[in-house]
Amino acid sequence: MSKQNPEVPGDEELAGMSRDELVRLGTRLDGVELVEYPDPWPVKGTRAEKRAERLVAFWFGLSGLSGLAFVAAFIFWPAKYVAPGEEGYTMYSLYTPVIGLTLGVAILALGFGVLLYTRRFIPHEVAVQERHEGGSTEVDKATIIAQLADAGTRSTIGRRPMIKRSLAFGGGVLGLAVTVVPLGGLLRNPHAQSTNEDGLWHTGWLHHGEEKVFLRRDTGDASEVELVRPEDLDAGAMETVFPFRESERDDHDALVHALKRADNPVMLIRLRPQDAERVVKHEGQEDYNYGDYYAYTKVCSHVGCPTSLFEQRTNRILCPCHQSQFDALQYARPIFGPATRKLAQLPITVDPETGYFIATADFNEPVGPAFWERKS
Ligand code: FES
Repeated sequence: MSKQNPEVPGDEELAGMSRDELVRLGTRLDGVELVEYPDPWPVKGTRAEKRAERLVAFWFGLSGLSGLAFVAAFIFWPAKYVAPGEEGYTMYSLYTPVIGLTLGVAILALGFGVLLYTRRFIPHEVAVQERHEGGSTEVDKATIIAQLADAGTRSTIGRRPMIKRSLAFGGGVLGLAVTVVPLGGLLRNPHAQSTNEDGLWHTGWLHHGEEKVFLRRDTGDASEVELVRPEDLDAGAMETVFPFRESERDDHDALVHALKRADNPVMLIRLRPQDAERVVKHEGQEDYNYGDYYAYTKVCSHVGCPTSLFEQRTNRILCPCHQSQFDALQYARPIFGPATRKLAQLPITVDPETGYFIATADFNEPVGPAFWERKS
């Protein structure tokens, strides 16, 4: 080791120095002047010190309890959709606030605990240091290790088992809470409480027996049923429609459910005649349209936002979430943005008896984003 600085001790002298001496040597060699280096609790075991310790432990404990509450709510809280007015709606509507609140409190409480501990128990030295260039010498390495060990000792964490345990509890549970979110989908069977095991594969347009499924608009009142006829749309227009069955006309809950079910909304588009001439149909969907009328799901194939915008001039369907665009003239295939799959097309025709639009079948593929069992 070269001794460029006369203050640098030899190896033998270095080995004989105490940690405190090494700390001060390190700061001196680094051109650091320790102006103040006070012990926050010079008299050990005072009531004030114990009070501060309990306060820190309280926040870590609160973090742990809140983290546990989050994990419990995430796993056990009833998260299945319940329509307004139905039994269980209050619990369902509280699901998101509860998991948000519990996770938020867990993170905040842990932060408060760390902050308080730093303020109450870590020495607040005042030091001035000059910068140096080049790599670290052996002396620098030895002294910095001593400084770090000294910081650990002076933080007194080693002799505060209550804080150590509460920190381990809070940090551990929070870590568990963070882990359980991505693992949640694997822990819980999404179909466990479903009355429809095929829920992801079918929508409310699924036919039950021979009953016709009409296209209705949402007027804001579920009981006010307005069906849609071809004359209702001008060329270039778009309307959002939902499934309706005559058997449900007097069933308010069923009518509300049909309007609220997430995978039910469909865009009914009437192309302009000059545009309709340029349509390219997807194999197997050649008879899905009725003249110039085409119906596509409103659920984006990217991550499921409503693709609510139809641009008449370009015949593009736009998803406002991440700007995916789909070509309504080419079976709604994606032409821009992150979506990689076409929008599912609903096969429609006009009921010869009533003159209203009906769906001839459910979609021929799941709507919306990919999911575990989906292969395409
Ligand atoms: S959800 Fe539509 S582009 Fe992302």
